[in-house]
Amino acid sequence: MDGTKNPEHVVIVGGSSGMGFALAERLLATGNSVTIVGRSPERIKEARVKLGDPSKLYAIAADSTREDDVERLFGTVGEINHIVSTAADLTGAYSAISTMDIAHARRIIDSKVVAPLLLAKHGHSHIVDGGSISFTSGIAAYRPSPTGSVVAAVNGAIESLVYALALELAPIRVNAVSPGWVDTPFWDAAAGEKKAATLDAMAKRLPVGKVGKAADLAQAFESIMRNSFISGTVVHVDGGHRLI
Ligand SMILES: NC(=O)c1ccc[n+]([C@@H]2O[C@H](COP(=O)([O-])OP(=O)(O)OC[C@H]3O[C@@H](n4cnc5c(N)ncnc54)[C@H](OP(=O)(O)O)[C@@H]3O)[C@@H](O)[C@H]2O)c1
Repeated sequence: MDGTKNPEHVVIVGGSSGMGFALAERLLATGNSVTIVGRSPERIKEARVKLGDPSKLYAIAADSTREDDVERLFGTVGEINHIVSTAADLTGAYSAISTMDIAHARRIIDSKVVAPLLLAKHGHSHIVDGGSISFTSGIAAYRPSPTGSVVAAVNGAIESLVYALALELAPIRVNAVSPGWVDTPFWDAAAGEKKAATLDAMAKRLPVGKVGKAADLAQAFESIMRNSFISGTVVHVDGGHRLI
């Protein structure tokens, strides 16, 4: 998307951190308008500052698991070209099935399955011709860990969801990006002080010899948005993780 020639407006749910933030940075750099969305107003404010607070950047605090918030979000943004959601709250996601806290499981399902349903429900009528919706799946759907049943399930569900929505919402294009391990703030919470060692160990196992950067994923999201012939598919950006 060369926004300098044809600026577009992209709503990025999850735009205050990680891959969503990198996508906002990338799109703003070429003159597009971006609305970043996240639950925490403080995090959004920090992201705004880090992005240099340009005039084409808008920010809205909203929780994509809440229908009233999602309705308010789209009521505010008006016409848009694309919706991207990288949002996820995987707190407490990894648990043996025998001791699983089902309230935790429901929160994860809300965050990765119910939220995309709400975004599609309330967002699609705001998308102009040539537009798209992109969700975020993940390697856990293909290489689950033994305590990762919920994460595997929600990522798998997103993939089936995009196939169905690509038909139902056509000509709006609906796709997903499936990241492998990517160095983002997610890992600060997931691995704490073991973050660097955990990511290094994975880098040594991957065919590409490194974990991903948020910018690698931003590039993939942008190319899905730009390519008017991509719909109903999952783009794997995982350094070959599915092969090991
Ligand atoms: N990083 C990896 O290695 C990896 C691997 C495979 C898949 N993925 C997937 O890739 C996506 C992006 O990951 P990331 O590493 O970029 O994550 P991240 O750095 O933790 O960022 C997550 C973003 O989502 C927002 N968010 C979370 N829940 C939300 C909600 N209910 N409503 C609105 N915003 C919400 C967060 O802000 P607030 O907390 O303020 O709401 C934050 O801006 C996720 O779907 C993740 O499951 C990541």
